[in-house]
Amino acid sequence: MIAPSLLAADFARLAEACSAVSEDADWLHVDVMDNHFVPNLTIGTPVVKSLKAATDLPLDCHLMITDPKRWAVGYAELGAYNVSFHAEACDDPVGLARDLRAAGTKAGLAIDRDTLIEPYLDMLPEFDTLLIMTIKAGFGGQAFMPELLDKVRTARNAVESGHLELRIEVDGGIADDTIAAAAEAGADAFVAGTAVYGAADPAAAIQRLRALAAH
Ligand code: DX5
Ligand code: ZN
Repeated sequence: MIAPSLLAADFARLAEACSAVSEDADWLHVDVMDNHFVPNLTIGTPVVKSLKAATDLPLDCHLMITDPKRWAVGYAELGAYNVSFHAEACDDPVGLARDLRAAGTKAGLAIDRDTLIEPYLDMLPEFDTLLIMTIKAGFGGQAFMPELLDKVRTARNAVESGHLELRIEVDGGIADDTIAAAAEAGADAFVAGTAVYGAADPAAAIQRLRALAAH
């Protein structure tokens, strides 16, 4: 799965940004930031509601917010395909995953740069996606951190040994020169902001990323 991140698009032209990738992307990645969990402020429910009307692409909402228990189900109710919340911001990830699934969406657990994955392995059956940051959450355009792929390998082993239906998504610095390493480590969903919307031809950029991930 290739998920272009709108964070790197022109926020005054989001409908055009959706159209530019509608034939080639699998999901559209929407970075929700609240200026508390991360020091940046982006998109909230009104914009997600408008995006839902503007595109048929599944919306992959990445909530970088405090108190996701209060807000996450609202994104499910707007028709998000997947809602990922951060492990660091939630004291009951399993409870929230169940709430999200009950609201009709896929449940995602996001793990930031400085968070170990081991404490969360046992709860992976409760989730549909596991988003492993390959940067520190908060901003696009940062350099990929290959050492974080150890977490992807650990997660891939857990998925194989537990026969789990879980997508392993990587987010941060995914580009032509990094996507193959992430795929090799076991990721099967790839968020790309700068690499898609910073390219002259976003559709061609997605096609290139997809080919590189498959090798
Ligand atoms: C950052 C966001 C990412 C961001 C990635 O916290 O979660 O989704 O858009 O941007 P690039 O692909 O430019 O690293
Ligand atoms: Zn993201």
